[in-house]
Amino acid sequence: MKSIYVWDLGVRLFHWSLVVAFFANAFLIDDDSDLHNYVGYFVLGFLTFRLLWGFIGTNYSRFNSFPVCFESCFKQLQDIALQRNHIHIGHTPLGAVMIYNLLLSIALIGLSGYLMTTDWLWGAEWVEELHEGFVTWAEISIVLHILAVIFESKRSSVNLPHAMLTGVKEIPDP
Ligand code: HEM
Ligand code: HEM
Repeated sequence: MKSIYVWDLGVRLFHWSLVVAFFANAFLIDDDSDLHNYVGYFVLGFLTFRLLWGFIGTNYSRFNSFPVCFESCFKQLQDIALQRNHIHIGHTPLGAVMIYNLLLSIALIGLSGYLMTTDWLWGAEWVEELHEGFVTWAEISIVLHILAVIFESKRSSVNLPHAMLTGVKEIPDP
């Protein structure tokens, strides 16, 4: 068994704060309340932190360590289809695509939410529909994200949720 420290405190705090705040705003807090907006602004704060951290954080948290690369995604799909176990220390290529999708979706939720509180766009009804649409898209993505994390954990025998909690990936000997 090899233990590798991959997720620094910044990434872990970002991840679990985002999970709690997103869940609260999507399912628990009345979306008509001021609290909904404040929690939404917190999410935008976490996101801004993560974008900065993607440039100044430790090795695996930096964006240049998980670029969007279609060739690598194709290789990962081949590995899955041929049941080859290739261990990725940081994010996997397909995981990277999902992460950028989630970060962008959350930014768009925040932007459309903020626009609803202003007179820009004349308080148009479709801004609310856009906000709702981005939330639905993020929820579908999150379900896929969680299923993918479970699938990849089973396939690679590396407990990925545990690594996101402790920062350490426990990689079994080949
Ligand atoms: C994690 C981020 C957020 C999530 C998951 C979220 C989720 C939601 C959901 C599910 C609705 C109900 C949509 C509907 O029934 O039409 C809603 C409505 C709304 N959200 Fe958000 N939201 C987030 C961030 C924000 C932010 C940052 C703001 C503004 C600062 C905001 C402002 C609003 C407003 C004004 C409404 C309409 C409330 C009403 O019905 O009058 N949201 N949001
Ligand atoms: C209990 C549910 C969840 C679990 C177990 C979970 C687990 C994980 C794990 C293990 C990773 C690292 C993947 C890897 O090894 O490459 C990750 C990354 C990520 N997850 Fe989740 N996740 C959950 C819910 C969510 C939710 C609700 C969101 C969005 C609101 C989310 C957004 C993200 C993002 C943005 C990353 C990238 C982290 C970064 O590099 O900053 N996750 N998640």
